[in-house]
Amino acid sequence: MWKNLDLYLIRQGIQDLFATGSNMAELTNPERRMLRAIRQREGNWTLEEVLEACDWDDQAVAVAAGHGLSNRGHVKISETSETGVILGIEGQKAKEFGLLEARLWEFISSNKDASMKDLSANFERHEAGPGVGLLKGLGVTLDAGKFSCENPDNVSKQIADREAFIESPTIDNPLIEHFKGRKNLIEIVEAVTRTWSITSTGMQVPPSDLEEVVKIAEITPELLQSDDWKNAEFRPYDVSLEASMPKSGRSHPMQALIERIRSIFLEMGFSELVDDYVQTAGWNMDALFIPQDHPAREMQDTFYLDNPKQIELDPKLLADWKAIHEHGGHTESTGWGGEFDPEISQKGLLRTHTTVNTIQYLANNPEKSCRVFAIDRVFRKESIDKTHLPEFHQIEGIIMEPGANLGMLVTTLKTFYEKMGYPEVRVRPAYFPYTEPSLEVEVKWRGKWLELGGAGIFRPEVTEPLGIKDPVCAWGMGLERLAMLVLGLDDIRQLYISDLEWLRNQPIL
Ligand code: PHE
Repeated sequence: MWKNLDLYLIRQGIQDLFATGSNMAELTNPERRMLRAIRQREGNWTLEEVLEACDWDDQAVAVAAGHGLSNRGHVKISETSETGVILGIEGQKAKEFGLLEARLWEFISSNKDASMKDLSANFERHEAGPGVGLLKGLGVTLDAGKFSCENPDNVSKQIADREAFIESPTIDNPLIEHFKGRKNLIEIVEAVTRTWSITSTGMQVPPSDLEEVVKIAEITPELLQSDDWKNAEFRPYDVSLEASMPKSGRSHPMQALIERIRSIFLEMGFSELVDDYVQTAGWNMDALFIPQDHPAREMQDTFYLDNPKQIELDPKLLADWKAIHEHGGHTESTGWGGEFDPEISQKGLLRTHTTVNTIQYLANNPEKSCRVFAIDRVFRKESIDKTHLPEFHQIEGIIMEPGANLGMLVTTLKTFYEKMGYPEVRVRPAYFPYTEPSLEVEVKWRGKWLELGGAGIFRPEVTEPLGIKDPVCAWGMGLERLAMLVLGLDDIRQLYISDLEWLRNQPIL
């Protein structure tokens, strides 16, 4: 809700900005005419008097002109509001064809011994039932399908009163209470009565400023074809006027944000990588030197799949990972020790990070320098709350080239956030099993440092078995976290609840 308020305040701000501008601007023709008219005498002018004096028949013109003049301080508006009653849609029908109870009563009175059956035959189905209810309320009884009444005159009298009300409804008639309870018969309305009176500044406007000028408000093909436009005066747009918001289709803010991030990385010379989210534990974890007994591999963090339960991996790859994990392979690392199980590597899962894709890209292109990014969906067994979702997106990237280093990594991330509108970025030491050194990236937002992702340089235990020779800078950041900053949210779930009102009011990204 505060978002709407925000927008409202922004609009107000813009209006205030222009209000001074339009104060200076010339009066519109209707304003000139109205000011000329009400200068003729002091005191209040009613709408009818203004319409008459200005020779208008559209009250909207008078109201708009009065508003414009009042904004400039030339007239003073006095408003009084009064409650009134008008006929609703059913009321108008009743006025034309008679109230339902009146029509039924008429039928019963003129057909002695009329039964419920006769009534059903002569009235619409939706009328007979409720109509009888109305008659019962007036003292008519229905017994074994026959109508009777002790005091028919009283019934006629009450019906006549109701008909009189419908003929000319007034707010002080006690029958109001009765009709309020019936659907669409009457409407209670607030009517605003305005009067306008001249102020001393209104009196001071020089008469020459009050002459009406012909200004072109619309440019037509005829006008352009003729020479008339050359000497014409054009009416400027009044950008301070209240306008309705067009309800058009547009991208979801998340999609719009993805597009924006995508164009920033493309602009920075990166290529986009798109890959499946069904992956193996081998690529998701083993290739990244995440130990097989790492707690994040357990069921509470990773969605393992029943189908496919196992995905076959190249035995050579499995052997290399086994060597690295158990004793460090050909690197100088001592590995994690213990026993590496190739069965675990072949387990099917929903990727827990997009690093699973960048690492496979590198495995397929170990020697070609590259800058690659991905913005994609990942899955973790999280319970849903204000800051967590089990399905979310990561913004991932790598730079591989001779001499790639930490400084380059930090500069790239800073540049990205700067382009997103967050110039204050800092990095802090962190730990990931697959990078050394490892960093945490933080962005300053509303005076606080917020952690948005991790980064680092891939360890030899990761690059060596895949034949990668050059250093690789890598990072992975949360997209939803960033979306919360960009859209000013304190609850991540707002992004996915499809609240149309909220969606319509989101800024264009
Ligand atoms: N994969 C890490 C995560 O999911 C982020 C990361 C990517 C860290 C690449 C370092 C290098 O949080």
